[in-house]
Amino acid sequence: MSEKDFIPSSYITLKEEGIVGYTSPSNIALVKYWGKRENQIPANPSISFTLTACMTKTSVEYKKKIRKDNEFSFDLFFEDQPKEEFKPKIKTFLKRIEKYLPFLKEYHLVIKTSNTFPHSSGIASSASGMSALALCFMEMERTFSAPITDDFFNNKISFISRLGSGSACRSIEGPLVQWGETSSVEGSSNLFGVKYPYKVHDIFNNFHDTILLVDKGEKQVSSTVGHELMHGHPFASQRFEQAHENLDKLRTILAEGNLNDFIGIVESEALTLHAMMMTSHPYFILMKPNTLSIINEIWKFRQTSNTHVCFTLDAGANVHVLYPENEKDIVFPFIKEKLISFCQNGQYICDRIGLGAKKL
Ligand code: DP6
Repeated sequence: MSEKDFIPSSYITLKEEGIVGYTSPSNIALVKYWGKRENQIPANPSISFTLTACMTKTSVEYKKKIRKDNEFSFDLFFEDQPKEEFKPKIKTFLKRIEKYLPFLKEYHLVIKTSNTFPHSSGIASSASGMSALALCFMEMERTFSAPITDDFFNNKISFISRLGSGSACRSIEGPLVQWGETSSVEGSSNLFGVKYPYKVHDIFNNFHDTILLVDKGEKQVSSTVGHELMHGHPFASQRFEQAHENLDKLRTILAEGNLNDFIGIVESEALTLHAMMMTSHPYFILMKPNTLSIINEIWKFRQTSNTHVCFTLDAGANVHVLYPENEKDIVFPFIKEKLISFCQNGQYICDRIGLGAKKL
């Protein structure tokens, strides 16, 4: 499929008014997306677990404008309050997607959105937020169009979400979504995420992700700046190559449920992401002392407990603790006893692997 396939040729009828709503979850990457080219094209392929508890709920009320103009018109409410400071980001998003959803300027939109996780928790809201909004716009388009297949609908939502935030394109479906062209995944694309098409062992059913909020402050490096740092990075090409190799290796690991090898890839990916930040110019250390303490405690516990608990990180200090359902009775008490004390105000979120967005 090419980008042109997402430009609609015509609509049957543009409804006068209506309301659409969706919830869309966050996701946690196992192989990380870090580095992009123009138009939100990833520099390397990535794969993620779709989550369940951390999600955004968004509704869009639309009403045809009385007088046509060439402007986007929208009000934005975040947790029931008008939120002017979020508007520029939405406007940029609308500009980027207008070509693919040409009805947007015909309407006044009232966008109402809220997250299940605390706003300044250091948890990225762009994946769930941008995908929830893309879903609402796509639902509008669906009501205006001749019937389209579910596959095309999902691909286009993911395509539109990607233009809001790269990782958002991996939030529509679940439990595992792969994004970025790579030879080991048939049907993979740089334009949208695809539901992972190969066998996934039952051990990954209900997989847990307990998110430890180590530092809830503002992000020290925005993802836009972070991706930028991969341009001219001395290790960029090796890193991009490694992501392809890790995806290739994951195919057998996921099919066989080989948790030891799974841990080897997932933890190495997290540390590589941070190593890229530490070796770019300018350079950053986004882990905090407590991030390292948690990692060390996990490694110690894994050795003595014979479990398969492991960690991954986003571009921040928070730690995602991953473990299978059949080990939760051993791992969760360990988390509570040994790890929660490293969290800011003792805060953490119990999440798990999920199936993606839902219509309200
Ligand atoms: C470290 O999707 O937030 O979480 O495309 O600029 O919005 P933009 O970036 P974003 O980057 C996420 C990076 C990451 C790794 C990942 O989720 O794969």
